[in-house]
Amino acid sequence: MPSHRILLIIGGGIAAYKCLELIRRLRERGHTIRVVMTSGAQQFVTPLSVGAISGTQVFTNLWALDGTHEIGHIRLSREADLIVVAPATADLMAKMAGGHADDLATAVLLATDKPVLLAPAMNPRMWAHKATQRNAMQLVADGIHIIPPTHGEMAESGETGVGRMAEPAQILTKIETLLGQPGPLTGLRVLVTSGPTHEPIDPVRYIANRSSGKQGHAIAEAAARAGAAVTLISGPVSLPDPNGVTVFHVETAREMLASATAALPADVAIFAAAVADWRSADTPNEKIKKAKGAPVPKLDLIENPDILRALAAPGPTRPRLVIAFAAETQAVLANAKAKLSSKGCDWIVANDVSAAGGVMGGTENTVHVVTAEGVESWPKLSKVAVAERLIAKAALHLSKRRT
Ligand code: CTP
Repeated sequence: MPSHRILLIIGGGIAAYKCLELIRRLRERGHTIRVVMTSGAQQFVTPLSVGAISGTQVFTNLWALDGTHEIGHIRLSREADLIVVAPATADLMAKMAGGHADDLATAVLLATDKPVLLAPAMNPRMWAHKATQRNAMQLVADGIHIIPPTHGEMAESGETGVGRMAEPAQILTKIETLLGQPGPLTGLRVLVTSGPTHEPIDPVRYIANRSSGKQGHAIAEAAARAGAAVTLISGPVSLPDPNGVTVFHVETAREMLASATAALPADVAIFAAAVADWRSADTPNEKIKKAKGAPVPKLDLIENPDILRALAAPGPTRPRLVIAFAAETQAVLANAKAKLSSKGCDWIVANDVSAAGGVMGGTENTVHVVTAEGVESWPKLSKVAVAERLIAKAALHLSKRRT
């Protein structure tokens, strides 16, 4: 594993103590560390303890450049492959978003052209405040990476909410992903379908469904984070394209089939799209008019191609692992098990999409993963967490097959 030069900027928050573990883990992985501490950080951990753990001098002062070992903010930024700010406080984020440079940390951050990763940590109300959210969005738009805070109990107040800094292990994973370290799917190609399809009735009307694309898009992004080369075929959604993924936008089931087929070969194919089963047999070029006295038009439906069935059929281009979703409103497991054999896929991720569950369009999902070995029922998770788990399971499965 190649080692990298990481510049860690420690901000002034109680989570600063977690940086000691982050430094230890980074060093274990062979990375070289330099550390800048803000004056706030020094209220929580001392430069002495950070220096002892990191094995290097800790930089604290923008103006003290005359010491023998002191180097300036430009060199600190130039001699790093990646800058990590942990914990990133609300104040530090506000200064960065505004382009301030009144201490060593902010001067380094303004001077750098290297990738920057922030691990925010703060009181939940400060994180939720519109000003902080606005600053976070600005920083992302400026190309800065953020590993979001998680839900939990605040060390200082006992309050719970979103504001806890991500764990050092998660920060380390993110750092290594940004540095292009190999992931469990490096070298593999993954195809994902996501979102609904729109089937035209006439030039202005269409048949659709409630799929938001959140689950499929999260899977595509998780696969990219795991190192795969990912192609996402997306129906019409109002989501941004996931990071690090090649996206093709389609409208109809037939376009989705054509794009998905063109994206082969793939090692893994994950069919998360809610493809319309039927389309209108007749799609006039002109809008159907509501003429007075004329009969109400009747839709004549014909069946759409089944993309999953087509791509999962045995043959030289069949992906090694084909994962489908089963959207059910009743007898979820029984229907999913039946689909596993009838559709020719290897795994089915079954979810209950009845209106009461709020899965379609929502941010959470409760799924059962049906494989030839049996059924794994996962607890209610965010769609991002379902995506992470599914990709980790796929990576494990493929690594076992490789060995
Ligand atoms: N699927 C597909 N192409 C279709 C229909 C479904 O690729 N024309 C895929 C979906 O992406 C999903 C799986 O097939 O991975 C099952 O989709 P689902 O809608 O649950 O099943 P259907 O086969 O449409 O059966 P039904 O609607 O009767 O439950």
